[in-house]
Amino acid sequence: MRVIAHRGASGHEPENTLLAIEAALKMQVDAVEIDIHQTEGELIVIHDRWLHKTTDGEGRVSEKPLSQLKLLDAGKGEKIPTLWEVLTLVAGRCDLNIELKSEKTVKPLLAMLEKAMSRLGFEQSQFLLSSFNHHLLREIKLLDMAWRIGALTGSRPINYARFAEKLDAYSIHIDIDFVDECFVNDAHERGLKVFVYTVDYEEDIADLHRMRVDGIFTNYPTRSMVRIAHLK
Ligand code: G3P
Ligand code: MG
Repeated sequence: MRVIAHRGASGHEPENTLLAIEAALKMQVDAVEIDIHQTEGELIVIHDRWLHKTTDGEGRVSEKPLSQLKLLDAGKGEKIPTLWEVLTLVAGRCDLNIELKSEKTVKPLLAMLEKAMSRLGFEQSQFLLSSFNHHLLREIKLLDMAWRIGALTGSRPINYARFAEKLDAYSIHIDIDFVDECFVNDAHERGLKVFVYTVDYEEDIADLHRMRVDGIFTNYPTRSMVRIAHLK
C-alpha cells in the first residue's frame, strides 16, 4: 500500500509548505500530495482560495501578486511555496501528486512539468495530476494522453468507478467515508488504482488493507507506514 503525504507531512508541519514536504521526504514516503492554485502569472502551492485559512493574510489567492503572497506567514514563519520551488525540493526523492484546485491551471502546469522533466530529471510517470474538477482532467488528456490523471471523488458514484474509466484515469482518489470493497473491486476490474484520503487512524488502515486499496493519503506518514508494515 503506497503512502502519500497529504499536503506534505501536514500532521507535523504547516500544510503545503516546504517544511512539511521536507519532513515527508525524510520519512521516505512514496509520494507527496500538494494543492495548487493560479495567481498572477504563477502556480503556487496552497489548498484554499482564501488566504486567511492557512496564512496571516486576507483576501483571494488569485487576486494577489506573488510578491505580496511571499510576505505572508503560512505557519512557523514558512512562506507559500511556488510549484517550481516544490519541484526543485522533491526532484529525485519521490513521486508527486499535484491536485489542481483552480481553473486555468492546466496549460501553465503542463509547461512547468515539461521543464521539470528536462531540467530536474523527473520522469513523466512520477507525476500524478488529480482534481475534483474532471473537466480539467479531460483537458489534460486531450493535450497529451501520456499524463497520469487521478479522478477525485467525495462520494460513491452510482456507477462506481465508471466515470474515471471514461476519463482514461490512472487512479481514482476517494474519500474514506465512501469507499467500500465493491467500489475497490469495480475500480480494479476497470484497471484503475484506488487511493483513499485522508487516512490517519490505525483501524482504518487495517480495513483499507483488507479491501486491497492501493494507497492512502495521510497527514502522519511514519505512523501509517509502521501500521502497514505490521499488516504484511
Ligand atoms: O487529494 C486528496 C485530498 O487532498 C483531496 O481533498 O480537500 O484535502 O485537497 P483536499
Ligand atoms: Mg488535496
